[in-house]
Amino acid sequence: MTDTDRQYWEERLRRFGQEHLLRFWPELSSQQRAALIEDLKQIPFEQLRGLIETHVRNRPSIVVPGSIAPAPFFPAKPDIHLAGRYADAIRRGEWLIRQNKVAALTVAGGQGTRLGFEGPKGAYPIAPVTNKCLFQLFAEFIRGTRARYGSQTRWYIMTSPTNDAETRAFFDAHGYFGLPREDVVFFTQGQMPALSPDGKILLDQKHRVALSPDGHGGTLRALAGSGALRDMAERGIEYISYFQVDNPLVKPIDPLFIGLHDMTGSEMSSKTVTKVDDFERVGNFVVADGKLMVIEYSDLPEELAVARNGDGSRKFDLGSIAIHVLSRRFVERLTADADAFALPWHRADKRVPYVDEGGQRISPDRPNAVKLETFIFDAIPLAGNPIVLQTVRAEEFSPVKNASGVDSAATSRRDMIRRAAAWLERCGYDVPRRPDGEPDATIEISPLLALDAAHLREVLSSPPAIARGQAVYLDRDQTHAGSSARVSR
Ligand code: UTP
Repeated sequence: MTDTDRQYWEERLRRFGQEHLLRFWPELSSQQRAALIEDLKQIPFEQLRGLIETHVRNRPSIVVPGSIAPAPFFPAKPDIHLAGRYADAIRRGEWLIRQNKVAALTVAGGQGTRLGFEGPKGAYPIAPVTNKCLFQLFAEFIRGTRARYGSQTRWYIMTSPTNDAETRAFFDAHGYFGLPREDVVFFTQGQMPALSPDGKILLDQKHRVALSPDGHGGTLRALAGSGALRDMAERGIEYISYFQVDNPLVKPIDPLFIGLHDMTGSEMSSKTVTKVDDFERVGNFVVADGKLMVIEYSDLPEELAVARNGDGSRKFDLGSIAIHVLSRRFVERLTADADAFALPWHRADKRVPYVDEGGQRISPDRPNAVKLETFIFDAIPLAGNPIVLQTVRAEEFSPVKNASGVDSAATSRRDMIRRAAAWLERCGYDVPRRPDGEPDATIEISPLLALDAAHLREVLSSPPAIARGQAVYLDRDQTHAGSSARVSR
């Protein structure tokens, strides 16, 4: 770190009114100074200047579109007219998977503050019998897909600068969960600094800026900037099957969804589930001023949230579950001019520990800072012919967001067991149930055995004996934990 470097940063920071970031410079070691400069290099000061005015010092005004109508969607259960189309879509999706034109993409750059787990969220142990972590379940689903379709399906994982090294080390330590190492690709998203309400960037320590990931919308820019998008193009990957790290029920690769995306010429497709109540905290698919988009639950006018159809059903009933297929060419088009491309920024008021002017580290007990993030679903209105496919919540969505209560590990494990029981019953096997209807056994089905109920029917050769209260794990090679079930290979 030369004096010229320091001068450069002093001038640059002064220009943007952020010179306080060098306040503790005289007392920093040379290593700490280098770390601080590295943080400063990550901050997009030019872009931030405008955002401080519009999103930090002022609150961005919520623009409610002139017309908001329910979004059209492909139903979870096709009627007689659609059944043939769905069957074609599945075949088409399977073909695309076999041709290696589809890759999985997990966004795993979030901070997971609500869960409060030490380490990358994907390392969270979740499977009800084996305690496999989220990453392992996805890896096994992708291995199961590769085995079923004879493909070399690749897996792209977005990390943040904070958890990148730890995530990679975790995969290394676990042998990439049986996937070829070269088919697991990590790329890192960008960061934004936390700001005080008057627009000053906060220091996390005297030599570290309070930086946090720039939201899952950062995926698009990160795909382009990291070279992952080029890597996809070189390998002939056309479609990106996008999902979040915290949903163990997700189908990381779904032939029907991929096939419909392809056959409708959609550039960005989304899955939806029926909302559990009018104010469920999920985004809503709507057509606003003629464009399909997601309106956050907090931004949907109340009269629309409670609106009913003639038959009494909820009018705005399509919740967003953050599962998408994106066409690679769509992402290329959006990010062709990386400097010009930006999704809309969203403001969140958060508690962010910081170092005050006197050098004291403060842990506030109420929101003291503004964080800025972009959201992937804001790309939907930019896409050609975007479609929405309805799916069944119990089959595909039960996220681990909180340490307890709704959307916690407990509810997610419960839903994994319920789904496993339902699959077995759909195959014609008995599952003991309690008087309240819940399965009276802890059941886990490995994705290495079956990817869905229909697949399970194909591979399970004899009824698994499931005694009351028992823990049963069904996998490709054997069954564990006291079960005597036999499965074919
Ligand atoms: P959430 O919105 O649930 O945020 O992310 P989070 O950071 O995981 O958890 P909290 O809010 O701090 O408790 C939804 C998904 O988007 C990813 C997360 O890793 C998760 O898979 N994500 C979120 C990113 O990859 N980057 C981000 O900047 C934000």
